[in-house]
Amino acid sequence: MSKILMVSSEAAPFAKTGGLADVVGSLPAALVRGGDEVAVVLPRYGSIALDEMRRVWERLPIYVGPNSFQADIWRLDRAGVAFFFVDIPWLYDRGGLYGDLRGDFGDNQVRFGALCEAAIGVARHLFKTEIFHCHDWQAGLLPIYLKTKFDGDPTFFGVKTVLTIHNLGYQGIISRTDLQLLGLGDSMFRPDLMEFYGNASLLKGGIVMADALTTVSRGYAREIQTPQYGFNLDGLLRARSGVLTGILNGVDYDEWSPEKDRFIAAHYSSADLEGKAACKLDLLTEFGLGEEAMDRPLIGIVSRFATQKGFDLIQQIAGHLMAEDITLIALGNGEQQYEDMFRGLAWHNPTKVAVKVAYDNRIAHKIEAGSDMFLMPSRYEPCGLNQIYSLRYGTVPVVRATGGLDDTIDKETGFKFHDYTGWALLNSIREAIGLWRDRQGWTEIVRNGMAKDFSWDASAAEYSALYNSLGREMQR
Ligand code: ADP
Ligand code: GLC
Repeated sequence: MSKILMVSSEAAPFAKTGGLADVVGSLPAALVRGGDEVAVVLPRYGSIALDEMRRVWERLPIYVGPNSFQADIWRLDRAGVAFFFVDIPWLYDRGGLYGDLRGDFGDNQVRFGALCEAAIGVARHLFKTEIFHCHDWQAGLLPIYLKTKFDGDPTFFGVKTVLTIHNLGYQGIISRTDLQLLGLGDSMFRPDLMEFYGNASLLKGGIVMADALTTVSRGYAREIQTPQYGFNLDGLLRARSGVLTGILNGVDYDEWSPEKDRFIAAHYSSADLEGKAACKLDLLTEFGLGEEAMDRPLIGIVSRFATQKGFDLIQQIAGHLMAEDITLIALGNGEQQYEDMFRGLAWHNPTKVAVKVAYDNRIAHKIEAGSDMFLMPSRYEPCGLNQIYSLRYGTVPVVRATGGLDDTIDKETGFKFHDYTGWALLNSIREAIGLWRDRQGWTEIVRNGMAKDFSWDASAAEYSALYNSLGREMQR
């Protein structure tokens, strides 16, 4: 049994922009079920209501370089997990988690530096911590602070750090002078520490300093050690491969299953698939498409619209795709070029394509349930959760064979293509359409997917074993 303090910029249901929130929202409870003691530290964004929370610390002083802040710490318990919210309105009470319409906030390094400092405060005063489990670059500063500023502090003697990389594409790159803003100074500006092509990288510093590294699938753990997927950190990751493991994300089937989903039109299961047709009709109606589309395969997309997700491939094959007898429904937001691309497709093909440029959890659930196929042509994908949700909803994934997509989908449960080309994608979609017309073959692939179990238990046990091994190291 270990005492784990997780540090993250997102956790469902409190604050979410992507899969990181799903993971930090559900892994802690699974660890608790397995016997670990777990707490989570998060920013108290303006969108998070304080109603059900208790204030457990007032005016905790936080020092980040030349800046100081006072944080109130609020606590909420869920499923045996203590969530600590760091309340510094000046830093976190804004129109978004990382940015607003004008782009990323210019002081994100200070905002998340303060989060790491606050987590160290929580460990000192409120939650006896054996291991800090840090997620992504936003928590990458914590191992750095622990090994520099707090080195020699008896409270943290023997305390270990785990850093999980959910996405190597986001690194927290800052300028050399910004290191001062974080209280780190020029001594950290070295190629073997935080220097990164003339700037400084918070994720790199975390990778250098953490005691153990994980990423969210075995496939991605291998890929990030290659130049193709390494975002210029592959050399460092190869050097640290001895402490790097891939642990596949689990999913929360209480939230994501057609048997109890509170957002969908009808419930269904592998034994009784009937309700799925009602979900399809409801989805078509939600997107303003007519009933005649019931006779065509419906391809669903729910995604951040980012280059990572491979939508440029759809652009490449748009003409051919539109010649097929299909319906395409997409929900997502992000980069302008992809928002425009989907809007354009819908404009030119109003009876076949519908898009909502938004972030909307309710509609995400409806797409999982109402679609026949789910499309993820990712350029890279550390794990990917939507394809795993899709399996449970009997919505057959069509994916590019990369990272977690490759690890979770096989030919019994979905369609995979390897080359990052429009043709490869189009072939996979055509294969899927072909099978959809064969009712028996389709029901078989649907049921194979629904029978898969990606619940957290096995993956949480892997994290537990990792914590234990670090604990043993501590006693030596
Ligand atoms: P990533 O973390 O790279 O965005 P994942 O597949 O791991 O990809 O997780 C994405 C999560 O975010 C899923 O829970 C998905 O349903 C959700 N999501 C993404 N975009 C939207 C959106 N526009 N509206 C609602 N939910 C979304
Ligand atoms: C990242 C990745 C995604 C992964 C998620 C949770 O955002 O892009 O593949 O599933 O983190 O680990």
